[in-house]
Amino acid sequence: MTERTFVMVKPDGVHRGLVGETISRLEARGLKLVAADVRQLDEETAGEHYAEHVDKPFYDDLVSFITSGPVVPMVWEGADATRQVRAMIGETDPLDAASGTVRGDFALDISRNVIHASDHEDEGANEREISIFFDDDQLTSYERLDETWLYE
Ligand code: PPS
Repeated sequence: MTERTFVMVKPDGVHRGLVGETISRLEARGLKLVAADVRQLDEETAGEHYAEHVDKPFYDDLVSFITSGPVVPMVWEGADATRQVRAMIGETDPLDAASGTVRGDFALDISRNVIHASDHEDEGANEREISIFFDDDQLTSYERLDETWLYE
């Protein structure tokens, strides 16, 4: 099923120059970039994004880290995009992330794991997260030239 999903390169990924690498991987897979931005989050947006973790012991660190520098929020579209992207970024803790995944290739520490992506096990997370970062009219609609070669 074609769907849209939310992906964000975190401040460590931006500072370490991993934005291009991340986008290249998703593009080469065949996913379609429909929105992207570079911005620094305020506490309110960060709190909204991480609302489900408000009671976790690491919540304050999570918010202070994600607001500490620029992030690159994006929306990607494709067949089962949420699950496809989660497989490509790897487990939350880089220690458990397989080589070949973004976190498995570029991260060592759970609190500096380069990238966030909507969780497919959290139903509706993709749409909820997209709406925190983008208005509907910021989501573009187009066909990739290679689409007939990507899907049956
Ligand atoms: S996930 O990938 O969203 O399903 O992961 P989850 O386990 O729910 O963790 C949510 C985010 O919290 C970060 N995290 C931590 N930060 C600091 N210290 C500890 N111990 C820790 N555990 C989890 C983790 O990187 C997730 O960030 P996002 O931005 O959602 O990937």
